[in-house]
Amino acid sequence: MSRKLILILSLLLVFLLTAVKAHNVSKNEQKVCALQHRSGSKHFPSNFKFGASTAAYQIEGGWNEDGRGPSIWDTFTHQHPEMIDDHSTGDEGPDSYHKFDKDLEALKELKVHFYRFSISWSRILPNADISSKNQKGIDYYNMIINKLLENGIEPVVTMFHYDLPESLNLYGGFTNLELIKYFTNYAKLLFETYGDRVKVWITFNEPYDYCIPGYGDGNYPPMGHDHGVADYLCMDTTLKAHAEVYRLYRQNFFEKQKGKIGMTLSTRFYFSKTNNSSIIDRAMQYSLGWLAYPLFGETGNYPQVMLDDIAKNSEEEGRAWSRLRSIAENERDIIKHSADFLGLNYYTSRYVEEANPAQGKKPSWQYDSRLKYELDVKWKRGKSNWLYCVPEGLEGLLNWIKNNYNNIEVIITENGWSDDGQLDDMERIDYLKAHLQAVLNAINMGCNVTRYTHWSLIDNFEWQRGYTEKFGLYYVNISSAGKERIAKYSARYYKSVIESKIIPDFVAGN
Ligand code: NOJ
Repeated sequence: MSRKLILILSLLLVFLLTAVKAHNVSKNEQKVCALQHRSGSKHFPSNFKFGASTAAYQIEGGWNEDGRGPSIWDTFTHQHPEMIDDHSTGDEGPDSYHKFDKDLEALKELKVHFYRFSISWSRILPNADISSKNQKGIDYYNMIINKLLENGIEPVVTMFHYDLPESLNLYGGFTNLELIKYFTNYAKLLFETYGDRVKVWITFNEPYDYCIPGYGDGNYPPMGHDHGVADYLCMDTTLKAHAEVYRLYRQNFFEKQKGKIGMTLSTRFYFSKTNNSSIIDRAMQYSLGWLAYPLFGETGNYPQVMLDDIAKNSEEEGRAWSRLRSIAENERDIIKHSADFLGLNYYTSRYVEEANPAQGKKPSWQYDSRLKYELDVKWKRGKSNWLYCVPEGLEGLLNWIKNNYNNIEVIITENGWSDDGQLDDMERIDYLKAHLQAVLNAINMGCNVTRYTHWSLIDNFEWQRGYTEKFGLYYVNISSAGKERIAKYSARYYKSVIESKIIPDFVAGN
């Protein structure tokens, strides 16, 4: 064979091999999860704090132990296994009820400044009411708080993370304004019991995400299907219960305990392909603004655009009153500015456009909002079908909050990435790195962000997805007896961020 022919054949072979390889790289791998630019300093401020987050039902297990009462998630997973992808429950899960020491080891290893966890209402008040105090449940959280503090880790406590006591569900749950009294008494007990040591409180986690699926779409407990009505009542009750608790704390506890209280809201950020800023604003009002505007705006009432649209739609439907009732004047002062910070759960973003005609069931939030969403082909997807990596969205969102709510303090209470639970979780590192850069950019642009919390400390029960999607910095083999927490690569990466307060490109050993 001539030398020329050999050369041509070799080149052809190289070309073919490269083409095959490129073909095999899955579409998702070609997509990027990175923030391209850096604005200003590469150091987080020296007082910036890093933490990790979990929630009671997702990690505790011990569902019927030591006097704990059932929550709606116990009833739901027991009665409707078909609603959970792998038919699993949180009955045992990572078993933090018995294995908190393993969580503590992970927290210590990461060197986090704080740990955000939630209290199971029905573990300390099995019937939701203060007449049913359960000392063993109270002791469990005392143990957690004390051990955290002994190790220099600050407790950040969520009072409610989806797991409503079943006993309140029997009275209509969040559609009954009576809930406000029960929740206020529960919160009072928490302040009396733990308030000497807990200085950051979050009343509710993600109201939109338990109200719409729980009372509107019916795919979360208590499986209500009254969209556009009961889900709106649920949001209303949540807002009012939060405000009552805030006022109670300021009047009776603040002087001595000196803590702060906020609510955690989830939102995406929105982009417009046609640079239509009014549609972005509409999408923001219908998501974050729904409860953030009453809390941080100047009226103590819902966003005007929601009040107007829903009043109009309700009239067209022949109703006697609006499905989204304006907040009564005497309640507005209680609600307005009833939060010391905004807790923000940010995961992903979307492009938005006006939906004309309105889409969705009539009535419903989707119908009222008249919005439709799109993805960008460049966005990388996580295991969860809704989760695309869009770090620019977090930077944009933090700036939007700064400009719309007077630069109130923002605590990022959740941000994270889902996969299959592998230890070499390079995609999680990319996601984390990109989102931390977005936070740092926002800080450099004057946004008042004081803390970042990664979701989650450990792999756990991902609601309707059961154990099929993993968000942990630590792997947990749910079916093993010991349920060891094993550090993933991302845990080592996060630790190096926390130690150095800068965002390293990579960490040796990964
Ligand atoms: C937000 C919720 O607060 C949390 O419970 C959930 O696991 C994560 N999102 C991931 O979906």
